[in-house]
Amino acid sequence: MDANLTCRSKEFLEAVDRITGPRGWRTDDDGIELYSREAWGIGRGKTPLVLRPSSTDEVSALLRLCHQHRVGVVPQGGNTGLVWAGIPDKSGSLAVLSLARMNRIRHVDPIGDNMTVEAGVVLERAQEAAAEHDRLFPLSLGAQGTCQIGGNLSSNAGGVNVLRYGMARSLVLGLEVVLADGEIWNGLKSLRKDNTGYDLKQLFVGAEGTLGVITAAVLRLFPKPRETRTAWLGVTSPARAVALFAFCRERLGDTISSFELMGDLVVQRVIDYLPDGRQPIESTSPWHVLIEVAWSLEDGLGERLERVLADAMQQGLITDGTVAASEAQRLALWLIRENPTDAFAAAGVVLRHDVSVPVQEVPALIDQGSALFTESIPGVRVVAFGHVGDGNIHFNLLQPESMAGDAFRALKDDVQTKVFDLVESLGGSISAEHGIGRLKRDDLAARKPAIDLDLMRRLKTSLDPHNILNPGVII
Ligand code: FAD
Ligand code: LAC
Ligand code: ZN
Repeated sequence: MDANLTCRSKEFLEAVDRITGPRGWRTDDDGIELYSREAWGIGRGKTPLVLRPSSTDEVSALLRLCHQHRVGVVPQGGNTGLVWAGIPDKSGSLAVLSLARMNRIRHVDPIGDNMTVEAGVVLERAQEAAAEHDRLFPLSLGAQGTCQIGGNLSSNAGGVNVLRYGMARSLVLGLEVVLADGEIWNGLKSLRKDNTGYDLKQLFVGAEGTLGVITAAVLRLFPKPRETRTAWLGVTSPARAVALFAFCRERLGDTISSFELMGDLVVQRVIDYLPDGRQPIESTSPWHVLIEVAWSLEDGLGERLERVLADAMQQGLITDGTVAASEAQRLALWLIRENPTDAFAAAGVVLRHDVSVPVQEVPALIDQGSALFTESIPGVRVVAFGHVGDGNIHFNLLQPESMAGDAFRALKDDVQTKVFDLVESLGGSISAEHGIGRLKRDDLAARKPAIDLDLMRRLKTSLDPHNILNPGVII
């Protein structure tokens, strides 16, 4: 076969068809448009071909073909990523490799507390499969009805339970990965202890599809909580929220699974956006905290939480609060926390920054950042929310009502530089949980130490010498 086939040439497509059959690929413009753009943002690329394999062997044969012809491939899960890592660039030369058809739960092992799932399993389905065996798979985030395990692992997703269970990285025991040249690495081990050299699976976690294609994973499971209590609290400032966090950690220890912060602008916008949106607490408050505690024993946690919150109120740490009295109330509180991304998608131009700082620096980040931009961009609205217990704030800015969207978007680079400078001065990270993708690649290059970048490049070159896996992402 000709060594320089493009992915849209007749011979290439015939070779693809021999591997997957007609259900495994598509080139129709309408059908593939969805795969080339973000659903939750403005990112847009172009692809001539979407590959939809249904097995690890098909992924392997497809990558072998792409490797042979130097065809670049963008692995894609649920396409909910927020940094343009799962969509192609605008060159129109990269094929998208969707894992959506690889959606089988292969095995659940409730004794060993693990389950083996394919990469295309939707996160919510993985949670359900664990629950069917009276177990918990704790990864939880707003996009869980759409995002897939392969995407979660490849972006090392965080979410709302990191405090107790860690990021996606700490929830994986084994992986099956197809390498750039099509070779299959079977690392599907379920061992808790395995110190036999380098921990290879961790190379692929957070690699954003640049080092290999994850086809299956062994995930850690946990005892399912028997009692879960959720409270919504009003606080006067981010500093009070952090003081409250320390207060609660002292008294509720590792029963706290979530400790989330939202500015009032966020809460009100989401309530307006939700069809049944209701105020979570009676009084108005500039800042809101959602705390959830859970344990696998029965009874007693609710009373303990109530006592702790009463003490917090007495000490002036909270101004108001409510504990969900039913599962329906609990879900209504979570709905508010899970919907800022959707609610603000239609609200105007939003400049997004997913950053982290040491927890005690969260107030400095929010206060100094807000002061910086409300002074320099009159009318700008600070949209701050996030996982305060992890020091991770989504520090976003919404366009002033008086400014045109394009004019505000033109400030993006300048704003981002100032946010990242502030974050770095506080000892933080310019990407806490969403990754680098195409969107922050140049910032990474400008801000990471040369030795870090060099080690990353060496890894990339040795695993993907022809740069066919997600070229242009991360480095
Ligand atoms: P995609 O967007 O399809 O891909 C993400 C990356 O993984 C890309 O680099 C892609 O190439 C790669 N990839 C996908 N599948 C594979 C595979 N099988 N093998 C190799 N590489 C692969 N993130 C958080 O961390 N915490 C949150 O709280 C959070 N909340 C969100 C809420 C909303 C409403 C939205 C829209 C997004 C949110 N995200 C959050 C961002 C996002 O990281 C997660 O939604 C999710 O982890 C991405 O999974 P996905 O399947 O959609 O991946
Ligand atoms: C969240 C996403 C934006 O925390 O990470 O809602
Ligand atoms: Zn988040």
